[in-house]
Amino acid sequence: MFVLGIESTCDETAASVVKDGHEILSNVVASQVAIHREFGGVFPELACRTHVDMIIPIIDKAIRSASIIKQDLDVIAVANGPGLIGAVLIGLNAAKGLALSLNKPLIGVNHIEAHLYAAMMTNLPNLEFPSLGVVISGGHTMLLEILDIGKYNLLGTTIDDAIGEAFDKVATILGLPYPGGPAIEELAKLGDENRYPFKPAVVKNNPFNFSFSGLKTKVLYTVKGQSSQIRDPALIKDEEKKHIAASFQRAALSDIVEKVLSAINTFNCKAIYLGGGVSNNQKLREMLQHKNLNIPVFWPSKGLSLDNAAMIAGLGYQKFIKNGAGDPLSLNAYARAPLV
Ligand code: KG4
Ligand code: ZN
Repeated sequence: MFVLGIESTCDETAASVVKDGHEILSNVVASQVAIHREFGGVFPELACRTHVDMIIPIIDKAIRSASIIKQDLDVIAVANGPGLIGAVLIGLNAAKGLALSLNKPLIGVNHIEAHLYAAMMTNLPNLEFPSLGVVISGGHTMLLEILDIGKYNLLGTTIDDAIGEAFDKVATILGLPYPGGPAIEELAKLGDENRYPFKPAVVKNNPFNFSFSGLKTKVLYTVKGQSSQIRDPALIKDEEKKHIAASFQRAALSDIVEKVLSAINTFNCKAIYLGGGVSNNQKLREMLQHKNLNIPVFWPSKGLSLDNAAMIAGLGYQKFIKNGAGDPLSLNAYARAPLV
């Protein structure tokens, strides 16, 4: 079964053809990073306009690169949230137009759930449940108990900034380019991660919840002085920046690692699946590997950790098989779409 996936929830316009939920025939991503860089983050109106320009050529390219024609498609899957509402609508309406004109079923997919499925895709058909799901992206930080594809218990989430957002904001404080995650990871390689005693926050009431806003403010005050604002000039010497990047990264990533360890000690987990842009971080992969866990850890394969449409097509296939039918053409777009 050939499923076309369409993704436009944030600043990537993406389309992909996936066969039977796991065989990726094409995975085309048009990143808007260069457009948003001068604003230090995603500029929603520009993201929407760029999606409008890119969506049809990217869909065409994904179908052509898969060496099929659009009539061969069996299902049209689309991320209908969560995300920037104007951006989500563009992919959703393109998907509806295709589904209607080709007379094929339309399937709406949750973008966060698709980030988790990206790692599961690499382990099909050997998925075992319950497993632990870890979504670490620019918009979300979540620990989930995965009972089945489509069945999740939320263990913890962030009460303020997402981890990727914290990387992006700390990068801005340090004068590094957007997106901040890769820039911090690079600079951190040169620094001493113990130079600054930054610590992850402890969140009352739920040991699996996260908070990154205090850590971000601590970095801000260290770089620009007590009670400073993000646009104030830096007071530290340039050579300190690498130590700050490394110390921040150590604090943020060790928070993820420690909570993953405590989750697998508390719940009966058969495997760990990680997803989202921050799962690209090689230091995080090393840190978890050094823990010598006795359950397998699955990371998204290359091209599947950042926003992409292969994860949308893959999960769309699973949802279609399970439901045996598509969603109505009245399918809505959602800015917020909780998984559980
Ligand atoms: O999953 P994603 O493409 O978008 C969302 O759904 O939010 O994730 C983007 C986020 C950005 O915040 C970016 O800074 C972060 O992932 N990121 C990283 C790395 N690569 C991307 N964070 C840390 N280390 C990286 N290597
Ligand atoms: Zn994402």
